[in-house]
Amino acid sequence: MLCVEGLEAGYGGARVLFGVSMEVGRGRLTCVMGRGGVGKTTLLNVVMGVLPASGGSVTFEGRSLTGLRPDERVRLGMGYVPHGHDTFPQLSVMGNLMVTVEASPHKDATAVDDALEVFPLLKPVLNRPAGSLSSGQQRRLAMARALVTRPRLLILDEPAEGVEASVVFEIGEAIERLRASGLAMLLVERYLDLALRLADDFVILDAGRVARSGTAEELKGEDVHRLLEV
Ligand SMILES: Nc1ncnc2c1ncn2[C@@H]1O[C@H](COP(=O)(O)OP(=O)(O)O)[C@@H](O)[C@H]1O
Ligand SMILES: [Mg+2]
Repeated sequence: MLCVEGLEAGYGGARVLFGVSMEVGRGRLTCVMGRGGVGKTTLLNVVMGVLPASGGSVTFEGRSLTGLRPDERVRLGMGYVPHGHDTFPQLSVMGNLMVTVEASPHKDATAVDDALEVFPLLKPVLNRPAGSLSSGQQRRLAMARALVTRPRLLILDEPAEGVEASVVFEIGEAIERLRASGLAMLLVERYLDLALRLADDFVILDAGRVARSGTAEELKGEDVHRLLEV
């Protein structure tokens, strides 16, 4: 469903991705792993069109994404939860969700109810400004906002980072339920335990190149740990 081929990208003169190829199959969860600074976030940003590629291609459901803006990619069915918080702090939780409905291709407010079923703990705080929420609640809201666009591919950059253990657990459960519903996902995750529990397929990046890739079964080995050691 998502096919990345020979992707090259960087910042100014500094190359970060060197010929990265990977894919996400329909209804599958591909987990991108690797040490800090190897290019995981850069890869997601290029896939979403936030950052330009200097070479290679990205196709989604058979369609080339070259030249499309991030919002156009969202309209095609790609949802993105970037690293850290991504909410409008002054707007209420409901306001954050409604803004996203209005910007989405379907403009269907029942998508908000569906997203709140995935993160029911948001229901008691719908009128609170997003900026006043705990980091766990803000993370739930960021994920709910991406769901409101009704993506067919959900892209998540370290959704469990920097929140307490109970929220990590809940996000893991939500990801499992979403995958069970048929949603394809591209996940950057550094917690190996969580990644092993969730992923169908793995891509391990090292210094901007794919060091290993394969199904979760294929990668259940000790060298995976070596590639992830700091
Ligand atoms: N905005 C930026 N400008 C310049 N260099 C950057 C920028 N963002 C990331 N980098 C560099 O690109 C490399 C990859 O970063 P990143 O994709 O964030 O890695 P990861 O997500 O795997 O930790 C790092 O060396 C980082 O310092
Ligand atoms: Mg990162």
